[in-house]
Amino acid sequence: MPVPKKNQLIGLDIGSHSIKLVEINQSKKGMILKNFGVIGLPKDAIVEGTIKEMEVVASVVKNLYKNLKIKNKNVATSISGFSVIVKKISISQRGESELDSSIHEEAEQYIPFDISDVNLDYEILKLKEAVTGDESATEVAKKGAALMDVLLVAAKKDIIEDYESLIQLAGLNPVIMDVDAFALQNAFEASSGNISGCYAIINIGAEELGINAVKDGVSIFTRDSSYGGSQITEAIMSKFNVSFEEAEKIKLGGTKVDKERGALEEIFTTIVSGWVQEIKRALDFLSTTYPDESIEKILVSGGAYRIPGFLKYLEQETGISVEELNPFANLQINEKVFDPRYLSYMAPQAGVAVGLALRSAGDK
Ligand SMILES: Nc1ncnc2c1ncn2[C@@H]1O[C@H](COP(=O)(O)OP(=O)(O)OP(=O)(O)O)[C@@H](O)[C@H]1O
Ligand SMILES: [Mg+2]
Repeated sequence: MPVPKKNQLIGLDIGSHSIKLVEINQSKKGMILKNFGVIGLPKDAIVEGTIKEMEVVASVVKNLYKNLKIKNKNVATSISGFSVIVKKISISQRGESELDSSIHEEAEQYIPFDISDVNLDYEILKLKEAVTGDESATEVAKKGAALMDVLLVAAKKDIIEDYESLIQLAGLNPVIMDVDAFALQNAFEASSGNISGCYAIINIGAEELGINAVKDGVSIFTRDSSYGGSQITEAIMSKFNVSFEEAEKIKLGGTKVDKERGALEEIFTTIVSGWVQEIKRALDFLSTTYPDESIEKILVSGGAYRIPGFLKYLEQETGISVEELNPFANLQINEKVFDPRYLSYMAPQAGVAVGLALRSAGDK
């Protein structure tokens, strides 16, 4: 669907390791990649989704805008981590206005924060089976038997405000505040053109491991945990007594530490198996909570899954087929402007930003 130019947004994924920017032109001719860029953040400027150094991060965003010569100041960005809760709940069926006035009360028991500290969003998923027979929904509702599924999204107000202030401090307008998991799902749907079936999207960044299980285009479960590439960097720092920057280089294979190869492999193995265990725990939880659903495939995203052998290992341990999520797959790309090898290398890190760039002002 073409999006009027004035409604198009810049997708800005503010991760703890780097900021990713994507601009997409959604025209009659399709989705055209206009701009893509990544810029690193200093260590600890953002820690597990919390902005610690507002000025520093804002100036990094400004630099990225300047380097890429971006004109559009309207931004879609996202939050993630422990300050966002996504949960599917079943409640007695009711009309939209009644739902709107009662949702806070209903949500209270599912949200581990004071309800007045969160922004609450919800989406009606479907009316339960019981009402799809001969009786109309209202008739069943009258008897008090019918339930409805509602997807709750609760995000801590202070985190949202922090990200809004950050965008404003960089001289930009925060138009949409999304959630990492949904942005990735959006990127996957756009890149595969398919929303049917049951699959899990995994995002392994620097400080967060996100899991989103999706059925027929609807998220049924999300979880973010404090795992990610920084664990490896930190283990290298202490094992070899080197700086963060140096440890990153060693991790990426830039610096040779031949005699330490064994110690390095051990760090990789220990930490990566921790990630795989976490993913397995989530999948187990999923199969007990939703015994009728079975995950057909796992899509992976995030810079840290580049670790050699990770995909195979995850596939072996879960017995589910694992694929890379390529957010650029369905975009039109001018190869004179973007080096295809660079884009294919960066694809693991670009998913959230692509999903955000596909949002538009007033789209839902
Ligand atoms: N080739 C590679 N091998 C191993 N790790 C890698 C590789 N390339 C990138 N990484 C790691 O991936 C992480 C960055 O990934 P990503 O950009 O997805 O994180 P982020 O979005 O900034 O962080 P988060 O979402 O966790 O806040 C870093 O820890 C980085 O060291
Ligand atoms: Mg990230």
